[in-house]
Amino acid sequence: MVEVIGVVGAGFMGSGIAESAARAGVGVHLYEPQDDALARSDQRIADSVRRAVSRGKMSEDDATALRDRIHFTTSLEDLGPVQGVVEAIVEDPQAKGQVFATLDAALPDARFLASNTSSIPIAQIASWTHRPERVLGLHFFSPVPVMKLVEVVVALDTAEQAVEEAMAVAQQLGKHPIRTKDRAGFIVNMLLIPYLMAGVRMFEEGFASREDIDEGMKLGASHPMGPLELCDFIGLDVLYAVCDSLYEEFKRPEYAPPPLMKRMILAGKHGRKTGQGFYDYR
Ligand code: CAA
Repeated sequence: MVEVIGVVGAGFMGSGIAESAARAGVGVHLYEPQDDALARSDQRIADSVRRAVSRGKMSEDDATALRDRIHFTTSLEDLGPVQGVVEAIVEDPQAKGQVFATLDAALPDARFLASNTSSIPIAQIASWTHRPERVLGLHFFSPVPVMKLVEVVVALDTAEQAVEEAMAVAQQLGKHPIRTKDRAGFIVNMLLIPYLMAGVRMFEEGFASREDIDEGMKLGASHPMGPLELCDFIGLDVLYAVCDSLYEEFKRPEYAPPPLMKRMILAGKHGRKTGQGFYDYR
């Protein structure tokens, strides 16, 4: 059992991972270099916890204790005495590599250093450290406090001990870990991406309206969101990076990002987070 973990990156995913850990009684050191980004993360977690309290899912005292378990910091070197780290910064190999090089030097006792990446090889990230045996992927799903799955990504040099530690931590956070090798898409995105991109192509070809495509899958297959709604929810920029990594690795047309998606990204329509995607959220 871990008592305290580090989370690097306080965006949507990092905040969700920190919240899930704190909900499970685990202490969190949450790092982000900018104060305003940390303040936004604090607000995001406060809103989520307030919603749980207002729905009668959490007491006021538990909400206060949860928030007290999260310690915000702007210094990566001073992450504290954490037993493991999950990194969830931007999908940039260079930026992730530098974070892992710093963590490797600053945290000699951490049992594992994990990345939440969905598109960068773990082997590449591990190559920035002197101890690649403790580097692995812990791929969470959005929204993290709700989604039960974590993919545990075992890279070329990952030691079995690190895998077991990370699996145990995922369970401690109330998640269901599944084990996958280090190749593009892991398990879920390898299956999810062809489906989502088929939805985008169907819309792009003018075969059906976005509403009918989404209603079709919600009412006909019991999905909580239709494919275009889910693309907007995940973020088109994130999806593009995952498509690209899959296409680069396997060269199969079903993974190639459709031209419309690229144009939408260039136009700044990244989905919910920018206010516009397949739908308008403004
Ligand atoms: N943070 C915390 N909790 C949240 C939340 C958030 N951002 N969004 C919703 N919730 C909670 C609500 O508080 C509520 O909790 P209770 O049941 O305990 O009251 C519960 O989730 C349901 O929320 P709502 O009633 O508001 O809304 P909903 O029923 O429409 O569900 C949803 C919202 C959970 C997002 C649902 O639509 C859903 O499951 N969508 C699909 C999400 C999905 O497929 N995610 C995976 C994306 S792929 C990925 O992430 C990996 C990758 O690499 C791309």
